[in-house]
Formats: sequence, C-alpha cells, structure tokens
Amino acid sequence: MKEQKRVKIAMVGAGFAANLHAENYEQLPGIDAEIVAIAVAPKDIPQADKFCEEYHVDPRNIYDDASKMIAEVDADVVDLVVPTFLHVPFAIKAAKAGKSIICEKPLTGYFGDPAVPVDKRVNVGATDKKTMLQECLKDCDRLERAVKDAGVTFCYAENWCYARPVWKAKEIVKAAKGKILEIRCGESHSGSHSPFAAEWKYTGGGALIRMGAHPWGAAIHLKLWEGLVRDGRPILPASVVATTARYRDFLDSLPRDQDQIKSRPVDVEDWSTGIITFEDGTNAIVIASDTTLGGIENWINVYTSNCRIEGKISNNDSVMAYAPTEKQFADVYTIEKIETKCGWSPAQASEDWMTGYPFELEDFVTAVVEKRQPDSNLDLAIWTTKAMYAAYLSAQEGKRVAIPKGYEV
Ligand SMILES: NC(=O)c1ccc[n+]([C@@H]2O[C@H](COP(=O)([O-])OP(=O)(O)OC[C@H]3O[C@@H](n4cnc5c(N)ncnc54)[C@H](O)[C@@H]3O)[C@@H](O)[C@H]2O)c1
Repeated sequence: MKEQKRVKIAMVGAGFAANLHAENYEQLPGIDAEIVAIAVAPKDIPQADKFCEEYHVDPRNIYDDASKMIAEVDADVVDLVVPTFLHVPFAIKAAKAGKSIICEKPLTGYFGDPAVPVDKRVNVGATDKKTMLQECLKDCDRLERAVKDAGVTFCYAENWCYARPVWKAKEIVKAAKGKILEIRCGESHSGSHSPFAAEWKYTGGGALIRMGAHPWGAAIHLKLWEGLVRDGRPILPASVVATTARYRDFLDSLPRDQDQIKSRPVDVEDWSTGIITFEDGTNAIVIASDTTLGGIENWINVYTSNCRIEGKISNNDSVMAYAPTEKQFADVYTIEKIETKCGWSPAQASEDWMTGYPFELEDFVTAVVEKRQPDSNLDLAIWTTKAMYAAYLSAQEGKRVAIPKGYEV
C-alpha cells in the first residue's frame, strides 16, 4: 500500500482565504494535511474558534501572537493568509524558524513608513512610485535571502497558475510547440466591500495589485514556463507600459441610479491596464478593474504562432440558470459579485476546481514533503511584484519602464 504523506500546517489568519485553503486541505488525495495551530489578530479569536470547530483543529492551539506560534509550534509549513502588509515579515520569521512557507498573493507592496503605526498613516498612495518600487525590491531581496539561507520551500499562492484554463493552455501549447506571441487577460468586478481594499497602506495599491496580481502572475508564469519548456531557460518580463485611473472621482457626480459601482477607493486606483514586454519581444496585456458590472470576470487568452486558446476562469456559460424574479435564487450561489439574480445567471458549477485551489494546495504540500520548488514559487512572486510596481511607476511617468533584473531600480 502507498504510504500516506503527512504535513503539519500552522495557519496565520482565519478569514476568507484561510477558509479556502482549509476546505481544500481536507480533500487532498493521498495527503494528510493537518492544521496543527492557528494564529489570528487578538480581536479575531472568535473567528479562530469558529475555524477550529469547522476544520477539526484543537482550539487549545489558537494563538493571538503569530510570531510566538511560528517560533514554537511543531509544524512543517506556515500558511500566511493575512493582509498583504504582513506577508514578508511573517514569511521571514517562518524561514528563520526553519519552516516552509505558503504565502497568499500578492507577495508584497509598499505600505508607507513602517515607523508610523499603520492606522496613523495617511495618503500612502501619493508616495512617489520610484520610492515604492525601491522599497518593494528591498522586501523581495530580504525575503529571498532568508528563504535561501534557511533552505526551506516557498510556495506562492497564485491559484491562476493552477486554474483549469491555464493548465489546459499549457498542455495545448506544449503539444502544438508554437511560440506564445501574446497573452490577453484580466480580473474585474464592481468593487470590493472590504474597507482595507480602499487604502494603499493595507493592500499596497488598488485594482492593479489587489485583483491584477492574478492575471499579472499568470501571464508571467506562462512565459517563464514557456522558456523552460522550450530551451531550459525562463523568458523573463523585461519592461512595462501602464495606465491607471480612479473612476470614482467622476462617478460621484452621477445621479445615484446611474452609478452601481460599489468600490469607494480612498488613495488607490480602481482601473488599470498594463502591457508587459518580455525579453523575447512578445507581450501580455493585463486588465484589472473595480468598475465592471455583471459578476466577476476572470479570463485569459493565449495567442501563439500556431494556435489560439480562450480561457474563461469565471463567468463561463457551462451552467446557465434562469429565474423570472430575484426570489427563486435568493438562497443559491451563482457567481461572485453579481448585482442581480433575476434573468439568466452564469451559475459557476465548481469555482474552487476551476480556479485551481485543490491543485495548488496539492502541489504545495507535496513540494514541502519532497523539498522541491512548486510550480508557483518565489521566483514568480518576485517577478510579479517587480512588474506590477514597475507598472505603477510607468503610470506615474507616462512612459515605458524597465523591470529591474536584480534589486536596484
Ligand atoms: N487567492 C485568492 O483567490 C485570494 C482570495 C482572497 C484573499 N486572498 C489573499 O489572502 C490574504 C488574506 O485575505 P482575506 O480576504 O482572507 O482577509 P480577511 O480579512 O478575511 O482575513 C485576514 C485574517 O488575518 C488575520 N490577521 C490580521 N492581522 C494579523 C496579525 N497581526 N497576526 C495574525 N493574524 C492576523 C485576521 O485575524 C484574519 O483572520 C490577502 O493577502 C489576500 O490578498 C487571496
């Protein structure tokens, strides 16, 4: 009989993404992925209690101090499902404690002056974008060194690398052997309800990084992968041209019934488009918007020298469901961020499967056991961070910006 792999997981965070991870850990084939401890912000202990009950975690192993848990708990991997500004500090602590890391997207960003308490920081979004890029590079450098020194595995939770359309696109491109000339992709909806999404100091930016991390990451992943498959060397992102906008500034002047957009950005953009040019001269066009109605739109199209692939990660029509009024579907989930369930709805049959979470977490826990790099790894996390912050600089300067190869601008 095949031996069951066992991985002990220490979670940091018990919110939305933590639940996504926990649901999928419970279903991994041939792997016993056990959550042995969990840390949350002190105010969220009741959330941790509920989490422990739901996922059969011993509530005596709840911590209100993540650093203490990371240092003392007997775990193979620390799973960081906390707001983005906490990713790198906790990841470095985990590496120093000899633990592998699973870290949610985006990897990091600029969050303002660390000497000022986060709730006291104002208008961080107005900071010069070159300063932001420089600070992000320092974070990436520190993290890469800590991970390499400790020899632990770093798993970057970019689920789009495992989303079924991306997975199928890779299978097709590998078989057809054409060159990827262009990728067009994006994530859009009508705005996050979270107050954290409105301020740069919590998320490191607006739509471009908060949602855009997925399509930016997937496009870069495909080109890195293509190069490795083609001639054993990744094709790196080289430069970027980008534009950002804050539509809220003029939406506020419209009559109420003409504005159904929910986002209320404070110092962040709610719309962005970037063009990444790779070192082989090919391009990816990436859109991320908080101002798109009609349910979440996650898509990726790949145009190669000998084929074309169109992938709809969400908002696909595999199940279309109709209701004459709102009432019939009041208690049924159809698709994220849809404004109405009246009429035809694209009822997503299996969002987790389509968006890749089970495959992502299977790769991660197996990578930790086998001490290897997962498909979505630290290289991808760092290249995606560099590209997105070079994009912010490009939008500020109104010109093409080179994506730093190392850690200097
Ligand atoms: N891959 C995806 O599809 C996806 C979806 C949603 C969120 N995310 C990412 O997951 C991360 C978390 O987002 P979320 O929506 O789950 O947030 P959330 O607000 O639902 O949960 C955040 C959790 O972090 C904990 N936390 C905050 N400060 C802490 C601290 N100092 N020490 C310990 N715990 C602390 C809170 O107690 C809470 O449990 C973000 O980086 C986000 O970008 C990814």
